[in-house]
Amino acid sequence: MRKFIVAGNWKMNTTPKEGKTLAKAVLKKAKLGKVKVIFGPPFTHLDKIQRLIKGRKGFATAAQNMHQADSGAYTGEISADMIRAIGTKYVIIGHSERRQYFKETNAILLAKTKKALENKRKVIFCCGESLGTREKGTHFQYVIRQLTSTIFKLSPEEFKDIIIAYEPIWAIGTGKTASPEQAQDMHFAIRAAVKKKMGEKLAEKVSILYGGSVKPANALEIFKQPDVDGGLVGGAALNADDFVKIIDAARKTDMGR
Ligand code: 13P
Repeated sequence: MRKFIVAGNWKMNTTPKEGKTLAKAVLKKAKLGKVKVIFGPPFTHLDKIQRLIKGRKGFATAAQNMHQADSGAYTGEISADMIRAIGTKYVIIGHSERRQYFKETNAILLAKTKKALENKRKVIFCCGESLGTREKGTHFQYVIRQLTSTIFKLSPEEFKDIIIAYEPIWAIGTGKTASPEQAQDMHFAIRAAVKKKMGEKLAEKVSILYGGSVKPANALEIFKQPDVDGGLVGGAALNADDFVKIIDAARKTDMGR
């Protein structure tokens, strides 16, 4: 059975104090069932949030980025070893904002992914097309190519610690969500590509999350799609009540599977 996951990517938001208040409220109110909930705070309070969730079943933390080198003269960067040392299990790699604003190429993203896996971290690997690509109608090829150039180069043994997040760029922070059908069609195509490359077992096992303006009002419809296994949530993850409602939608969907 695939793991249902709701991950909050806080991006460059919250002070340590605000982050702690937010996580505490979610910890208090959320009913998880078998759903896994991941907090992705900024590095200034990743350790603090990791301590807060310690011993709380079903909760984990994610780093929003990571450098591909082991250590060294890379001012401002964070290594896999540092992330591992504080007990953070997940790393988000390949977010469109990292690709766009920090010029992270597929080669860099593959190196980061390999380093995270070497350090026994799980990777939430993001993919997704721009509005222009969708309008041209080449979005399926585009997204599959992103995966072919990166995580499809991993061995099946490595691939088992990958979670895929499909985040169409045109739906991120815009209030425009992909329709449940658009999400399902892409998730289906991604799973089919995983099957071809990694085999049926891994294709059935890999969780594929949807990201892009997920909110309490649309979460249930999106999560109900058979190839959607949860969400990577930005804006709505910054509001405890909204995030709890999204977790609730995930729990209900997961119970029905
Ligand atoms: P929004 O939910 O704010 O659209 O952000 C999605 C996202 O980029 C999560 O990584």
